[in-house]
Amino acid sequence: MAEIGKDIEKAKWILEQGDLVAIPTETVYGLAGNALNLSSVTKIFDVKNRPHFDPLIIHVPDIDGAEVYAEGVPTSARKLMNQFWPGPLTVLLKRKSIIPDLVTSGLDTVGIRCPKHDLTQQLLKKLPFPLAAPSANPFGYVSPTKPEHVNDQLGDKIKYILDGGDCTIGIESTIVGFESDLPTIYRMGGLSVESLEQAIGKVYIQTHSSSNPKAPGQLKSHYAPLKKVIVGNIEELLQQHSTSRTALLTFSKDFRHSYQFILSPSASMNEAAQNLFTALRELDKMPIDVILAEFVPELGLGKAINDRLIRAAALG
Ligand code: TXA
Ligand code: MG
Repeated sequence: MAEIGKDIEKAKWILEQGDLVAIPTETVYGLAGNALNLSSVTKIFDVKNRPHFDPLIIHVPDIDGAEVYAEGVPTSARKLMNQFWPGPLTVLLKRKSIIPDLVTSGLDTVGIRCPKHDLTQQLLKKLPFPLAAPSANPFGYVSPTKPEHVNDQLGDKIKYILDGGDCTIGIESTIVGFESDLPTIYRMGGLSVESLEQAIGKVYIQTHSSSNPKAPGQLKSHYAPLKKVIVGNIEELLQQHSTSRTALLTFSKDFRHSYQFILSPSASMNEAAQNLFTALRELDKMPIDVILAEFVPELGLGKAINDRLIRAAALG
């Protein structure tokens, strides 16, 4: 198992040696390595069992940090970075050649994120390189929102988990690109569509999966627990699956079912987002065969939650 601790100097030292450290962010835990070091980046792909065609995003301490690795930053991107960084927003920008091909899977854009978490901010400020960090889970599985989630799955493959407690947002960053100067959401996430549109007006949404997705997070099946997930009307689903061993994942309603997880008894969307991945992990461990889930209202982070539920159920 990996050591879990709050020692930033230790995390820094391990990263400087070219090894990996799991880092806390406000969205999910990341599996971090030196983005400019090919051997570190290769380790990230290996530990996650992630295909090399799936690009990594890099983490920087501030906007000046982003300018070192990207050029031709569009006005709307700058506006978003000014308003929402540090925060749950990843921007796709034209990359400078200092970023290795392996990081971007050969794409000419690089995803850049400035996370809002005190420990990781301090760490990034001490490092002379950006951190490549995908979510710290095996490829295709549910992202981790607690240090223990990381330890459960990657604990025998990494040395250190920087303990920043529970992630406060609980769902990955929103990814926005600016091809032809049209702000486009490629992944729904912890920054709501409403907040983005308030800042820069209309944004396009292109999160649907295709045979050749721009972001593999757009793949039909992703963020998925091992158990089968079905999303729909819980009452109807319970009737249809009356002979199976079922668990329920609900927004706020208590069905008094033997196995269930209520995302937010008070119907708070932010609390629901915070609990979503813990819920999927806990349900996955229960002695059941199928998880019956319901969509949440499409407000605020509700769109991102529903996006993850669809992918967890591989409904595409
Ligand atoms: O909240 C987050 O973004 C977390 C924390 C750790 O920062 N990170 C995260 O990384 O979710 P990852 O690798 O699990 O998801 C990033 C997504 C992937 O689906 C990847 O395909 C996409 O971003 N991506 C990265 N670079 C891209 C690029 N240049 N163009 C399009 N998609 C890109
Ligand atoms: Mg991921």
